[in-house]
Amino acid sequence: MGDDAKRRAGEEAVKLVEDGMLVGLGTGSTAYWAIMEIGRRVREGLKITAVPTSVRSEELARSLGITLVPLDDIAPGGIDLTIDGADEADDDLNLIKGGGGALLREKIIAAHSKRLVIVADASKEVAALGRFPLPVEIVPFGCKLTLERLAELGGHPELRLSSGGEPYVTDNGNYIADCRFGVIADAAALETTLNLIPGVVENGLFVGMAERVIIAMEGGTIKSLTRSPQA
Ligand code: A5P
Repeated sequence: MGDDAKRRAGEEAVKLVEDGMLVGLGTGSTAYWAIMEIGRRVREGLKITAVPTSVRSEELARSLGITLVPLDDIAPGGIDLTIDGADEADDDLNLIKGGGGALLREKIIAAHSKRLVIVADASKEVAALGRFPLPVEIVPFGCKLTLERLAELGGHPELRLSSGGEPYVTDNGNYIADCRFGVIADAAALETTLNLIPGVVENGLFVGMAERVIIAMEGGTIKSLTRSPQA
């Protein structure tokens, strides 16, 4: 599944963007195409402002002339629409995110978005979450102890390493533990349990947050999974 499906999913989602919106910009190789399409429409005259979910999406948006606003300047829940990618999405629109390391900022932005729309290719749709390792953002202080707590929970955590072999560091100065819990039967319960571990900052389970998952299928069709907008 190549860039073409990711591009088509991104472009489909950007059809939802309208003048005057404050838009959350996701992170990853699929969200990239949505940001590129927003940039193209901005050049054509679309008037929006945006908040990015990572330093790299911020840099991309700036390079495209998309007007960014500091997150501290927006009202709680004030983002009209966020378009982001995912590593897995199930039929209930629960997600695993964070393969790109941006899960903390992504979840903060999603939590303040009226609508979270996910863009994906067909490889991301799963019957049950858990095949993709669940990213958990942890603070460097005491990280070995935190990894042990994650192991006690059955997560088989592996500290994510960068290409040089040292721990991968997120935009927030933290580490990522990639965990394998197997099939995740109760994503809401696991999300809460993980976040109660001292040293865990956030995890990549996004439960009940997405309103729509736009999946670009092989052959050119678009599949859209939806649920009611967040109250
Ligand atoms: C970034 O941290 C992630 O949550 C991405 O949204 C997710 O990994 C999907 O990325 P791709 O679109 O590159 O597969």
